[in-house]
Amino acid sequence: MAERIVVAVDGPAASGKGTLARRLAAQFGFAYLDTGALYRAVGLAVLHRHGEEAGPDDMLEVARSLTAADVLVLTGHPSLRTDRTAVAASRVAAVAAVRDTLADIQRRFAVDPPEGARGAVLDGRDIGTVICPGADAKLFVIADTEVRAHRRLKELHERGVPAIWTEVLQDLKDRDDRDSRRSVAPLRPAHDAFLIDTSELSPTQVFDKAIAFLHSRPAFAALQPSV
Ligand code: CDP
Repeated sequence: MAERIVVAVDGPAASGKGTLARRLAAQFGFAYLDTGALYRAVGLAVLHRHGEEAGPDDMLEVARSLTAADVLVLTGHPSLRTDRTAVAASRVAAVAAVRDTLADIQRRFAVDPPEGARGAVLDGRDIGTVICPGADAKLFVIADTEVRAHRRLKELHERGVPAIWTEVLQDLKDRDDRDSRRSVAPLRPAHDAFLIDTSELSPTQVFDKAIAFLHSRPAFAALQPSV
């Protein structure tokens, strides 16, 4: 099997990494994995089985018990994108053994992407540092906290989810804090990641910057966009 090209896109919540990652995958005909959805799926299952008071052992027991079919159902669940699920996701994501159970799925996706795709784009928090440290290109996407909170509020309102500015902002800050301070796989750029601050950029400007960087990487030199 030919080696697949791997693109890692990491960054904090609502930084624009998902939009960028999906667009890059479409551009090159690569498979796309939203790794946050896996953590959200485990977080949601923990909420269903144990509520808010779950401890690390409950979280691990749930993570280990989930089948591929369960994950598929949970990632399509209407509550997957709520802030309550995001908070539950960031709690389960701080447990090292839970991260280990999800690491294999992510690495297998990168090495052997579905439908024989010639590459994979994974977005998350630790793709460039822990999951795929040998990725062909690493992007780290950031934006000011208030800009990110505005984006998240708009996104929630567009989906008809009631949300209050102060709560969205506080949730984002708490999650940033938990994600960057945890001892296992904390959110931080890989030493060889290309940083993009999206605060004042449109999605197309972000995409153009990423493409310019990708074309400077050896793996992309001969690669044409997918038609
Ligand atoms: O969509 P948003 O950026 O708000 O979050 P997400 O990507 O869906 O991730 C939800 C939570 O899962 C994050 O706050 C992280 O705590 C955790 N996560 C992680 O630890 N590692 C990943 N690779 C992806 C998500």
